[in-house]
Amino acid sequence: FTSGALAGLRVVITAGPTREALDPVRYLSNHSSGKMGFALAEAAVDAGAVTQLISGPVTLDTPAHVSRRNVVSARDMLAASEELAPHCDIFIACAAVADYRPLQAAATKIKKIHADSMELALVRNPDIVATIAALHPRPFTVGFAAETGDPVDYARDKLQRKNLDLIVANDVSRSDIGFNSDSNAVTLVWPAGSRVLDMASKNTIARGIITAIADLYTHRGQE
Ligand code: PMT
Repeated sequence: FTSGALAGLRVVITAGPTREALDPVRYLSNHSSGKMGFALAEAAVDAGAVTQLISGPVTLDTPAHVSRRNVVSARDMLAASEELAPHCDIFIACAAVADYRPLQAAATKIKKIHADSMELALVRNPDIVATIAALHPRPFTVGFAAETGDPVDYARDKLQRKNLDLIVANDVSRSDIGFNSDSNAVTLVWPAGSRVLDMASKNTIARGIITAIADLYTHRGQE
């Protein structure tokens, strides 16, 4: 890990879950704790980058020297990303964004109905990382792929579909890594190669990811 590897560069990182309101007291969300994204922010600062976090609702302290924007829903996260990403060199999408949101968020608390089942209509949320990757000019864009099963095949597909420079594949079927745990194990997949980062603390994995990003960013366009 080289401390000046990202010196002078601006990095924006999304982290944590999003919450999609059903009514004023209920929401759809997921188990992301923000730990991976916050560890990446800390590693980016250590590598010399000016670092901004766009964070969904989490209970973590902001790492030193990181500026933080709090958001709730996927659409809030998209708006913050569209504001900040055009001014950055590297955009890292670590957030676990809800793919769908309720078609309508009720203005008042939804009442119990006298039936055993209830239907919920959902609509697709915008894809934040794909939106940023489609900007002209675009930052060096890094996505994550949370998969169960063989994460690497899916990751390569996502890399191409979302036009990313690097994707970090996470097998989230294991409870000792991925969502909410303090450890992770990932496979980095980019157009010309891949690299496995064996199970370690999220801080160590973050430093490995930032090192790989610095390497690929420095040599971009040379293949
Ligand atoms: O927060 P932790 O508890 O530390 O857990 C870390 C993590 C498991 C959440 C993290 O390492 C991780 O894998 N994050 C991505 C989770 C995810 O939503 O993966 P996905 O395969 O659904 O999405 C693929 C990529 O597209 C991700 O970069 C995601 O941020 C992005 N995306 C997805 C949907 C959407 N509407 N907009 C997006 O930008």
